[in-house]
Amino acid sequence: MKLKLIVARWIHKFLQHTELMTENMRSPKTIGLAWVARTLMNYSNAQVSIDIVSRMKLKKADHVLEMGVGNGLAIKEIAKIIGNKIIGVEISAEFRRNLLKMKLPKNIVILENDAKDLSNKVPDGSIDKLLAINVIYFLKPIEEYILEFKRILKKGGIGYLGCKFESIKNFDIEVAPNRDEKAIISQLSNLGFSASSEFIDLGEDRSRYTLIKFEKL
Ligand SMILES: C[S@@+](CC[C@H](N)C(=O)[O-])C[C@H]1O[C@@H](n2cnc3c(N)ncnc32)[C@H](O)[C@@H]1O
Repeated sequence: MKLKLIVARWIHKFLQHTELMTENMRSPKTIGLAWVARTLMNYSNAQVSIDIVSRMKLKKADHVLEMGVGNGLAIKEIAKIIGNKIIGVEISAEFRRNLLKMKLPKNIVILENDAKDLSNKVPDGSIDKLLAINVIYFLKPIEEYILEFKRILKKGGIGYLGCKFESIKNFDIEVAPNRDEKAIISQLSNLGFSASSEFIDLGEDRSRYTLIKFEKL
């Protein structure tokens, strides 16, 4: 294991239950802790990101949007398939700075919006596939975000939420209130989606996750 990962895990072990650490896992911004959050996300989410993108069954001509791009792990996989513009939404300036340095493929556009209102950049009914990995826990009030999913998705468009409920169960509840799979599915269903979930085990602690899939009716 690389030294920087060992150091990041050690710091996280002591601070994981704090509001400040959870804030940085939501959206890195504090010097030092932002580095810890980014390092852990890179290590923990690479396999899951690749796996989810493969399950999205993307077609070259799909219009795809990812909320909470983070280190860019999933959007880089999406860009291997998609020819159209790919929209990434990333509220953290720290992450956006890093994404810029990464020189992502030219068809990726990163928006700085809060994902609850993309109306200045993303037209109604324009997206075929929506992805958010390790993001839903933090969105509040969740209903506002689900309504935005509904606005931007085409009829029959599909959303995918990658969730590691076990890993986030001790996160500060004020910062990460959405940690109940059944409640999230019922909120999606109540707001006009057909929603279901599947537990996926890729063999390691870091690669066990729940995939929530929802289709706009
Ligand atoms: C835990 S990280 C996950 C990053 C990446 N998807 C992954 O799995 O490695 C949560 C991401 O969502 C972003 N985010 C959180 N709230 C957001 C919001 N309201 N609008 C847009 N992005 C948001 C954060 O800045 C961060 O990049």
